[in-house]
Amino acid sequence: MTNTTKKLYIKTYGCQMNSYDTKRMEDILRPLGYSSADEPKDADMVILNTCHIREKATDKVFSDLGRIRPLKQQREKDGGQMVLAVAGCVAQAEGDVILSRARYVDLVFGPQTYHQLPEMIAQITGAYGSKRIINTDMPVEEKFDHLPQENAVNGPSAFLSVQEGCDKFCTFCVVPYTRGSEYSRPVADILNEAKRLISSGVKDITLLGQNVNAFHGEGPDGKTWGLGRLLQELNDFQGVERLRYMTSHPNDVQDDLIAAHRDLEKVMPYLHLPVQSGSDKILKAMNRKHTAQSYLDVLARFRDARPDIVFSSDFIVGFPGETDEDFEATYNLVEKVGYGSAYSFKYSARPGTPAANMQGLVREDVKDARLARLQSLITSQSLAFNQSFIGKTIPVLFDDEGVRDGQAHGRTEHNQSIHVKAPKRVVGQILDVVVTSAGQMALHGEVKQEQNEAA
Ligand code: SAH
Ligand code: SF4
Ligand code: F3S
Repeated sequence: MTNTTKKLYIKTYGCQMNSYDTKRMEDILRPLGYSSADEPKDADMVILNTCHIREKATDKVFSDLGRIRPLKQQREKDGGQMVLAVAGCVAQAEGDVILSRARYVDLVFGPQTYHQLPEMIAQITGAYGSKRIINTDMPVEEKFDHLPQENAVNGPSAFLSVQEGCDKFCTFCVVPYTRGSEYSRPVADILNEAKRLISSGVKDITLLGQNVNAFHGEGPDGKTWGLGRLLQELNDFQGVERLRYMTSHPNDVQDDLIAAHRDLEKVMPYLHLPVQSGSDKILKAMNRKHTAQSYLDVLARFRDARPDIVFSSDFIVGFPGETDEDFEATYNLVEKVGYGSAYSFKYSARPGTPAANMQGLVREDVKDARLARLQSLITSQSLAFNQSFIGKTIPVLFDDEGVRDGQAHGRTEHNQSIHVKAPKRVVGQILDVVVTSAGQMALHGEVKQEQNEAA
């Protein structure tokens, strides 16, 4: 171990799991003397933590690599060094392509090997090292065992990875290939990490997993715990105020998870539960193993347990074989549910997935038109949902300084973004806020009068 100061720059693409992994990479490299650089040009090590989910994601990585290359060359010309690494899901899926297409990349490693970063760096930069490394093994269990017992925290909200990988094999999706099969961390490890986060001031924890409600970790009592049981335990922790989890699959919703939303005051009334399509024919072709109706039934169970719950979802338009009628079924489902927010994407064929070989490709202009229609419906629902809060007083967890002076940023219990007239020092607190106006993306408000003193 060395204390010389070195600079690290990590660019994160993709999902929350990648954001979590980036933080853990920083936790691993800090004891080696690495601190954050603001720009890649100042960094001794640059890591692109990549995402493979859609086509454009990979293109972006290669164009970013092209931009970093001259910076690396400049540093070397100046007598310095820049280790250039590609991590994450593109690395896992296309590591060999990266090494051959971008010969200036030193290191390629997948999502399950970043705990070995110190050894990999030593091999590249050490006295005898000058080789290029590719490391795309999948020792997921070993990874979690070797992550540092230290989490750097910035702000009151944090992610905590509890489950990784996916066994669902939706026909469009690369995740089962890039992240491997489902693995649940032992409960004791998760609780320890939660305690560390809370002792550093975290009040809002989002449990992460590619299929988080399939969580089935080994409990301290020797029994297998599901997500509902885990939430119950965390709900009793002093200091944490808000619990969320993502991403869930409709087929893995157990009764104790529904009960958690009914009984546990810290479990927030917000749920991201993707459905992808409203057409049973398309859902079947996607291998989702549920129907539109069975999805709606699951939502109804959550609503019975927690009437003010709000849902979000992901949608794919233009999956192979999707007709106008199939798309209408998706549109109707969205109208029926009334989402607080939702993400929608044009289908993009991914190498190695079953859907990539399917017939009935949908024309690009048709996909564009469907996406625009769906997004305008979702936007109007988000706007209506946000506007329904105008005039109400709601608890807001302040998580950041605002972009404008005299403003702070926070989150509502329903996971809406809110800009509030308030001093910087409110960050980290939960205060009652009166909502004064609302747009599609965010609310605006003022800290409730009698609390101004305290704030
Ligand atoms: N595990 C989560 C999320 C997976 S990826 C789940 O099961 O829902 C996030 C979203 O990206 C998916 O929900 C899906 O809507 C979208 N997506 C995944 N593969 C895609 C593809 N090939 N083309 C377009 N969108 C895709
Ligand atoms: Fe991908 Fe489906 Fe698994 Fe989600 S459930 S990660 S969409 S394969
Ligand atoms: Fe992307 Fe991998 Fe997440 S493909 S969405 S970074 S699991």
